[in-house]
Amino acid sequence: MSTPTVTSTTKTPSAHDSGIAATELFKAARFTCDTSVERAGAIYKDLLAALAQVIHDHQITYDEYHVLMQWMVDVGEYGEWPLWLDVFIEHEIEQVNYDRNHYAGTKGSIEGPYFVPDAPKLPSVCELPMRDKDRESKPLVFHGQVTDLDGVPLGGALLEMWHADEDGLYSHFAPGMNIPDWNLRGTVVTDEEGRFEVTTIEPSPYKIPADGPTGWFISSYGGHPWRPAHLHLRISHPGHRVITTQLYFEGGEWVDDDVAAAVKPELILRPENNRVEYNFRLDPDSGQ
Ligand SMILES: [Fe+2]
Repeated sequence: MSTPTVTSTTKTPSAHDSGIAATELFKAARFTCDTSVERAGAIYKDLLAALAQVIHDHQITYDEYHVLMQWMVDVGEYGEWPLWLDVFIEHEIEQVNYDRNHYAGTKGSIEGPYFVPDAPKLPSVCELPMRDKDRESKPLVFHGQVTDLDGVPLGGALLEMWHADEDGLYSHFAPGMNIPDWNLRGTVVTDEEGRFEVTTIEPSPYKIPADGPTGWFISSYGGHPWRPAHLHLRISHPGHRVITTQLYFEGGEWVDDDVAAAVKPELILRPENNRVEYNFRLDPDSGQ
């Protein structure tokens, strides 16, 4: 793996800056799990066996081993582990956990590294905070209803939304770009019928930060760093499974070739006249 020439534009925050922001946010929470010694042992044994198989199949050289080690150190120093893992691993974890719990409600998708909790609460009919409205952007009215699996409306459900702007940038993760903290982020509370109507703008496709170790990794195998345009959503209501998902736009660039492999056919929006409806069905809380 080589380090490609770094090019930057005024519209691209550095991988290092956004990586450090994502890592600091992740570190603020300390995660634990109750995995037994037996289960941990079985997982690690299989993981190391899978790695051993790759090493043998591809006859990995010492030079390649040392570049890997160097790259892993670099990923940590750039703060890019949340980015790399969410782009290349999370979609498998998400799918396994939907299937193993036999969920039937709205499909999930990856959370990604750019969620920020506690975005300002907004009423069911609202506009997401957005900066100067004369910027060139396509308006979007996103509306729908949150119900349980039987179609019973879930009033007071929380619909946390966050998405990139027309330049593909997220507030909180673009230091130096003068984006207000809660730009295009909000926690929308559904009305008593579970309905919501949010005025926002269509996000743009974006490149994941590509001037650091994640970008070097992608370049090393001739890949691309693009994600299709998407809305991020996290829907919650007491007694129901929290859904974390993303919605994409039919015919959008990279929808068929997402670097994070997170697109599902059930999660594609078809806006007409700048309006689009999407309804969410929440599974009961299984405690998982
Ligand atoms: Fe995203």
